Amino acid sequence: MAAKARIAVVGAGLMGHGIAQVFALAGHDVTITDSVGASLDSAKARIRANLADLGDDPAAVERVRPLADLAAAVRDADYVVEAVLEDLSLKRSVFVEIERHVRPATILASNTSVIPITRIMEGLRDRSRALGTHWWNPPYLVPLVEVIGTQWTSHPAIDWTIALHQAAGKMPVHVRKDVPGFVGNRLQHALWREAIALVEHGICDAETVDTVIKASFGRRLAVLGPLENADLVGTDLTLAIHRTVLPDLERRGGPSPYLEALVAQGKLGFKSGEGFRKWSGEQQAALRANVLQHLKKARARDA
Ligand SMILES: NC(=O)c1ccc[n+]([C@@H]2O[C@H](COP(=O)([O-])OP(=O)(O)OC[C@H]3O[C@@H](n4cnc5c(N)ncnc54)[C@H](O)[C@@H]3O)[C@@H](O)[C@H]2O)c1
Repeated sequence: MAAKARIAVVGAGLMGHGIAQVFALAGHDVTITDSVGASLDSAKARIRANLADLGDDPAAVERVRPLADLAAAVRDADYVVEAVLEDLSLKRSVFVEIERHVRPATILASNTSVIPITRIMEGLRDRSRALGTHWWNPPYLVPLVEVIGTQWTSHPAIDWTIALHQAAGKMPVHVRKDVPGFVGNRLQHALWREAIALVEHGICDAETVDTVIKASFGRRLAVLGPLENADLVGTDLTLAIHRTVLPDLERRGGPSPYLEALVAQGKLGFKSGEGFRKWSGEQQAALRANVLQHLKKARARDA
């Protein structure tokens, strides 16, 4: 991997501007594009504010070049990462368009949260250079990037992408099979399914679910993964627990009716003031600030 690569970010929203920031801070030249003028226009201001807040080099923002024209943004790139809305047909058409303008060796990545990369990339002429890179929000604070190959992705494309993210201070992992949700979101939503079921079945309320997690195994999760934990307590004990508990866990193959009812009632969470719980403006701001503080402290500890 070249020490200085040309990176193009397509989609300048929440994730796109943060991904651009990480690559610019790592010394790469970054173009960023968006189909909505307001998103593109605000990208550099958002990056500037983040850099100031984190105490990172303010000059990094000068390596980010917003361009309204997609073709101009991707034409010279070594690496293109897409972060447009989570919509399969939109992503497919964006990649077909990107492929028309990039050089033959350019690697193409999607930052989809859960959509299989195979479905996004199957319409491309050269699928060997296409892969997934699943970042977490905010991209400049959460270290993990899942790098997902399809049956067509070349090994050099995977290796180059892993090296690119490693050199930019991220923690890339290789996901060997292109399954919906990859690794992180499968694990996260397995937990959310059970969390919602506990409320749905009246075992406890939503606040209690969150308290139980945050005040118990959530405390350890950042330093003790579940399989490390299983080895720590013993696989024999884990087996005994699973024999009792697993038959009782939620195993519904689709979303909970409780969740569907919330959405149908317009209880959409922060954006409507109520979801599983009611949220005042102050409570929302406090929770957001608390998460940000926690992630910033973790980054400082890692440094
Ligand atoms: N938000 C998260 O926590 C998170 C985490 C990991 C991955 N992701 C994934 O990242 C992607 C982006 O999510 P986000 O949260 O940044 O969304 P967002 O809505 O903040 O940003 C999406 C941007 O894409 C732009 N866009 C739409 N169509 C476009 C097009 N044709 N060409 C160029 N730009 C276009 C929009 O104008 C918008 O600025 C999604 O696939 C999402 O699932 C999100």
